[in-house]
Amino acid sequence: MKLLSIAGARPNFVKLASIASAVDSHNQTYQKNPLSERINHVIVHTGQHYDIQMSQQFFEDLEIPKPDINLEVGSGSHAQQTAEIMKRIEQVLLKEQPDIMLVVGDVNSTVASALVASKIGYPNKRPLIVHVEAGLRSFDRTMPEEINRLLTDAISDLLFVTEKSAIKNLTNEGISINKIHFVGNVMIDTLKRHIKKSLNSKIKDKLKISAPYGIVTLHRPSNVDHYKNLELLINSISLVSEKLNLIFPVHPRTMANMHKFGLMEKIFMSKNITITEPLGYLDFLNLLKDSSLVITDSGGIQEETTFLNIPCITLRDNTERPITVDIGSNYLIGASPDKILPTVELILKGQGKNSNIPELWDGTTGDRIISILIKETKT
Ligand code: UD1
Repeated sequence: MKLLSIAGARPNFVKLASIASAVDSHNQTYQKNPLSERINHVIVHTGQHYDIQMSQQFFEDLEIPKPDINLEVGSGSHAQQTAEIMKRIEQVLLKEQPDIMLVVGDVNSTVASALVASKIGYPNKRPLIVHVEAGLRSFDRTMPEEINRLLTDAISDLLFVTEKSAIKNLTNEGISINKIHFVGNVMIDTLKRHIKKSLNSKIKDKLKISAPYGIVTLHRPSNVDHYKNLELLINSISLVSEKLNLIFPVHPRTMANMHKFGLMEKIFMSKNITITEPLGYLDFLNLLKDSSLVITDSGGIQEETTFLNIPCITLRDNTERPITVDIGSNYLIGASPDKILPTVELILKGQGKNSNIPELWDGTTGDRIISILIKETKT
């Protein structure tokens, strides 16, 4: 069976790591099962993220095999980036002719590849399209990711979901329940597999920081692409830093905008904020595990903090991951900066939420996915 997996942006690599490892385990044991077969895993990196810290470092930290193919699309407008991926992935699919094409998450690489695979016929079949982390909905179509999620799910043949709300979202959109599998969360597979190794990271020494501290990450266009929004957020973060030391690994989009809007000085003046370039997976996990709280607009970090029972203040009006609010440690406070400080104070007083670990976030989701893929390609 030939499985071709696509990954393009930082959060994709964390999910791909679980799939690659599950394929590996399968290939070491498949001979014991006469109904099973070896999986030939082809990894395609679209090149959406290309900086060492946003890409290569993740492959190294997570021990993901080097991509077989790199499409090197780089940055551009949504249309340019999506179109470039589509043009280049078409050639790859025609040449490789995989039985299955697997996409993860909700980035431009995800939707671009799914769209091409849905209409390709080499010469008279197309690959089974598999979406890992399907069915999540913020119900906010101003988010590029929401468009990517809706379209990818509409054309996928098998949809693997992380939480039960996603099943309802998909069936409400008319997707057959037979295509949907509740398998758990591949990001948590990766976290569980690497947490011990992350303890060896020297990042705290390097940044000269020790607990207690909080972490800030910001990269959503709605928060960082507009001067006023970003300025208000930076002001609130400065206020928080008077109560708690903060580490702020800055995404390239955010860094470019902070320079453009003249906000760097404000950050540098806040002496309790440590600015760094984006961190690798192991360094970030090392910091995350010992943090007092996280202030973020990331999707994946809402899940990781829920798993680790670390309070997470999400600077968005909505979340496509409602389980992290319902039973997890996530506070959805919107982008309104005046709610940040009171929530931080509540948490620092020890009155923060405690999380329960969501169902099937148990570290074996990748194996469940591979077993289902084997079964589905047999029938
Ligand atoms: C993308 C995803 C988003 C995901 C995020 C994680 C889409 C629509 N968005 O957003 O869902 O949460 O990745 O980081 O797919 N840049 C670099 N180096 C890089 C990559 C990007 O400098 O390695 C800069 C470029 O100037 C680029 C900008 O960052 O224009 C934004 O990158 P892009 O891939 O377009 O979107 P992200 O904001 O990273």
